[in-house]
Amino acid sequence: MDNTKRIAWCITGSGHYLKESIEIIFTLKNVDLFLSGAGEEVLKWYNYSLEDFKSKGIKVFKDITASSAPVSLLYENVYKLIVVSPATSNTIAQMSYGLSDTLVTNMFAQAGKCKIHSIVFACDTEPTVITQAPKKSVTLYPRDIELENYEKLKKFKNVDVVDNVMKLNRALKKWV
Ligand SMILES: Cc1cc2nc3c(=O)[nH]c(=O)nc-3n(C[C@H](O)[C@H](O)[C@H](O)COP(=O)(O)O)c2cc1C
Repeated sequence: MDNTKRIAWCITGSGHYLKESIEIIFTLKNVDLFLSGAGEEVLKWYNYSLEDFKSKGIKVFKDITASSAPVSLLYENVYKLIVVSPATSNTIAQMSYGLSDTLVTNMFAQAGKCKIHSIVFACDTEPTVITQAPKKSVTLYPRDIELENYEKLKKFKNVDVVDNVMKLNRALKKWV
């Protein structure tokens, strides 16, 4: 475990497991936050402010450049680990097919090319999921394509794909 390097935590536009992910972020040291555009919006829907992170010394990188400029930090040996949690169906689909047109999917792709380990918390992993909308719980029925993309991503090298908070914590333990 290398404590001189940081963790790049990526949040996408998922309300599902957002609260749990943020609770873990706040327990970590040496963590920076990377947001997809939808991730930034969804934080507001669930009443989180970027100040909540900045006030704890967490640097926040937003998705504001077409080239995903912050990925260049991955070339500088700054990060030992990338975490994508929570990961939307969209982000899982992009990542599993090698697409990268958001800051988060670019972080994942470039981490792979730099042989930096990733942990991905996929949220649509069961035929039925109960999720937290901003004002109430909702039952959703992920489609076959969501379940297929999740299975596809699990085959990636150097990537732990987890489907619950306990497994996320267990995967993180090796790195913090
Ligand atoms: C309040 C709110 C909650 C959402 N929660 C989820 C979610 O739990 N899972 C999901 O796959 N998409 C969710 N979405 C939709 C995504 O934000 C949307 O698909 C977005 O394009 C994903 O972009 P990203 O993967 O780049 O973050 C939510 C949208 C809103 C407005």
